[in-house]
Amino acid sequence: MTAQLNPRGDVAVLVPAAGAGVRLGPGAPKALRPLAGEPLLVHAVRRIAAAASVHTIVVAAPTAEVDAVRDLLTAVAPVTVVPGGAERQASVAAALAAVPAGPEIILVHDAARALTPPGLVESVAAAVRSGHDAVIPVLPVVDTIKEVGPGEVVLGTVDRSALRAVQTPQGFRRAVLTAAHAAAGDPLTDDAGLVEKQGVPVVCVPGSEYALKVTRPFDLALAEHLLAGGA
Ligand code: CTP
Ligand code: MG
Repeated sequence: MTAQLNPRGDVAVLVPAAGAGVRLGPGAPKALRPLAGEPLLVHAVRRIAAAASVHTIVVAAPTAEVDAVRDLLTAVAPVTVVPGGAERQASVAAALAAVPAGPEIILVHDAARALTPPGLVESVAAAVRSGHDAVIPVLPVVDTIKEVGPGEVVLGTVDRSALRAVQTPQGFRRAVLTAAHAAAGDPLTDDAGLVEKQGVPVVCVPGSEYALKVTRPFDLALAEHLLAGGA
């Protein structure tokens, strides 16, 4: 059954899903790789659509797969599908351009974080609604972090207490994200990084272990396990 989105919702979610998934190994584009029999993108969109504030979902699909992705998602939720770009940032920009008038909160959420709970979508959106221009979900860094130089020689130990691992969905007041993308120039940074460059404060909220990004084969195995456990 296709989920209904909330016509009174104030949130649009952009889902960059146009990456190849090189680190996952040979195969289909990552968003279309199966996780327990369904593509990662289906898992991701189903959870986004279950978040009560979501009014619009725009997916940026691999260029060759736009029609296939549209067909695939018809049974999941009402979504707009646009062709993505060569870099993640171009995919986000393409999705942003397709958001209709209305939603004033924009979330950007990797398709690869397929098991992200709807509650995290809501908590990021709520933090933007409460007045923050830019919000990112984060986890503490658990490993000791070393800075290394040539020959893998350790230069020093980084103070872990000041570090955070950043997830998605990242949330923004619409005008803030639009301005940051209009000025975009660094394809290596995330959306919050673009906003930081505009001098806008970015605030952290607690992330979720379930929002892990499926990047390597190990992550896919972990996600399968979490799904079997009810994620
Ligand atoms: N993405 C995108 N357009 C691109 C590159 C990435 O929409 N040109 C999306 C991916 O589909 C993914 C998210 O951005 O949902 C995070 O990127 P990443 O995990 O790096 O995915 P891939 O780029 O597909 O993986 P890899 O870097 O291993 O090729
Ligand atoms: Mg990538």
